[in-house]
Amino acid sequence: MRKTILTGDRPTGPLHLGHYVGSLQQRVTLQRAHATYVLIADLQALTDHADVPDRVREHVVGVALDYLSVGLDPDAATVVVQSQVPELAELTVYFLNLVTVARLQRNPTVKDEMGQKGFAADVPAGFFVYPVSQAADIAAFKAHLVPVGDDQLPMIEMAAEIVRRFNRTYPGAGGPVLVEPEALLGRVSRLPGTDGGPKMSKSLGNVINLSDDADTVARKVRGMFTDPQHLRAQDPGRVEGNPVFAYLDAFDPDAAGVAELKARYRAGGLGDTVVKARLLEVLEAFLGPIRRRRAEWARELPAVHRVLREGTARGRAVAAATLSEVREAMRLYGQGEAATGTRE
Ligand code: TRP
Repeated sequence: MRKTILTGDRPTGPLHLGHYVGSLQQRVTLQRAHATYVLIADLQALTDHADVPDRVREHVVGVALDYLSVGLDPDAATVVVQSQVPELAELTVYFLNLVTVARLQRNPTVKDEMGQKGFAADVPAGFFVYPVSQAADIAAFKAHLVPVGDDQLPMIEMAAEIVRRFNRTYPGAGGPVLVEPEALLGRVSRLPGTDGGPKMSKSLGNVINLSDDADTVARKVRGMFTDPQHLRAQDPGRVEGNPVFAYLDAFDPDAAGVAELKARYRAGGLGDTVVKARLLEVLEAFLGPIRRRRAEWARELPAVHRVLREGTARGRAVAAATLSEVREAMRLYGQGEAATGTRE
């Protein structure tokens, strides 16, 4: 069955390899089989970047270039700029009544992010409720599937809860109005940082960007964390927790070759520089075509803006249709039967 897919990214910086394995790869694979919407979540970006609007605006185009460079096809997938669809903000306001502050406080991803950003009592209210706005993004498009990395699972769970609550509270005349979404995890749902930390994250400075040039990638790979006990090539090394091998698992098409490298590394006799050289070769083979496509689109910026304009218009029509049904189910004044005067 053809389903609807929606996912999104905050335009606060360049997208990196973690975004690719967590979600971008799935979108590219599925974009022709399903109705695919990709949201550049600039309103969500403002929830913790309210004071740098120019940066957010600039990265709207940067993220669009990242999408196009990894092979998102604007004829198959619809790229939508969140702030240009006011229906999403409207649905967020309705949804805020269907979730409690206590429930929001339990969201582990928001908790982690608040800690990471050093927010305590001074967390912006908009940031605290961004999972609700994300639920509205998903519900407005009636998405069944949301391709995300595993850090986003609590968000999708909350979106499903809010949708269930909405459908129970406001049963539509013709059956439930909104669709309960499900997360779709990638083959690799999380990529460690170059520092060996659990997650690649721009704010931690441990990322390899899809737009990094060859010298930058080489420098980052050379500086990668490995096994701190593996001091000499002849010593046995640890593969677990070693991000060089995690990246090989994610990007090296030669799985048998990776298995052999792991065996040799564990046994001792294989130096970090050799494994890193293989990783660099694999990453360059992956990033080369991405860089070339990016350069082509970057020469045609008016075409990129056209992709955004046309995608946003198509996306807005979908969200607007959902919002008419939502208002009617909610019995808002001026909607549906009441508007025609047949009931009141
Ligand atoms: N929160 C997501 C992120 O951090 C971005 C996002 C915004 C999103 N709206 C969405 C993801 C809707 C999935 C569905 O990258």
